[in-house]
Amino acid sequence: MLKEEIIKRAEIINGAISKYLPIKEPEVLYRAARHLIDAGGKRLRPVMCLIAAEAVGGDVEKIVPAAVAIETIHNFTLIHDDIMDRDELRRGVPTVHVAYDEPTAILAGDTLFAEAFKTLTLCAVEAKNIVKASRMLADVCVEICEGQYLDMSFEKRDVITESEYIRMVRKKTAVLIASACAMPAVLFGMDEYEKPLWNFGIYSGIGFQIHDDVLDVVGKDKIGKDWGSDIVEGKKTLIMIKAMELGVDIEIFGKGSATKEEIEEAVEKLHECGAIDYARKKAKEFVEMGKKELEVLPNSKARSLLIELADYLVTREY
Ligand code: IPE
Ligand code: IPE
Ligand code: MG
Ligand code: MG
Ligand code: MG
Repeated sequence: MLKEEIIKRAEIINGAISKYLPIKEPEVLYRAARHLIDAGGKRLRPVMCLIAAEAVGGDVEKIVPAAVAIETIHNFTLIHDDIMDRDELRRGVPTVHVAYDEPTAILAGDTLFAEAFKTLTLCAVEAKNIVKASRMLADVCVEICEGQYLDMSFEKRDVITESEYIRMVRKKTAVLIASACAMPAVLFGMDEYEKPLWNFGIYSGIGFQIHDDVLDVVGKDKIGKDWGSDIVEGKKTLIMIKAMELGVDIEIFGKGSATKEEIEEAVEKLHECGAIDYARKKAKEFVEMGKKELEVLPNSKARSLLIELADYLVTREY
């Protein structure tokens, strides 16, 4: 079953994280850096990285540091994202800037950012391939910053088109998932599989973020994050873009705060106008495009698992 396949690999990642990211002095900084990592998370990106390594026929053990590096970058982005989005809950625990303070959270994120690149160099593959993978990861980090900037700047604009939204989520979310999938091909020097795995990650990553937007609205307590945060923050998610297009008025949109009842009411309206169903359908369409990209890979259990996992990205409940 997919769930067991994910857990099996997530355990490998968790063991490796303890090895590559030990708590050092000053202890508070490292505890802050480990705060979210230790709180859990689905570990989907490093798991996809390990499965992609299997799918290209590589010796998975050799690239475990790359999978850890990807998860480390992910956690760095989450710490900084929660400051930007003014969110207080993630993975069921207080966010890092709430549990510690904002300067410590900024530094904890920076620490993880740097540690990730150090960890990546520990892959047991040819040095020239590590150089290529490092460049890929650096490019990805730059694009995440661009995407996060666009995400924030869209809050201030009245109208955002669907294609502008897709360009934004491609950068803020999909490129990291794409690198998780394509990096094993780079590290093992299997260049012919780099592009299809990258494209698979881009399409399914866009679907993943659209589904994350859906969960922000419908997920409630299950998601372990602030419910309705995108609505009160004024995020131009695909759901809101559709609702605005249909002329639906969401009173609390961009108001900075709202009661549970007000969020409930907004969610009801978003349901009724069909905006949530629209986003769900779009998320699935992107995943379908992603799955097609894998057709050039050799038929294997790992390839089937990647396909199953892609479906899970847009059907998960948290
Ligand atoms: C959350 O990612 C951030 C987004 C890009 C939407 P995940 O949903 O993978 O978060 P964790 O790692 O499981 O907590
Ligand atoms: C997250 O987008 C993208 C990055 C972390 C780069 P969101 O802001 O929607 O993620 P969550 O919902 O807070 O996890
Ligand atoms: Mg955000
Ligand atoms: Mg956020
Ligand atoms: Mg979100």
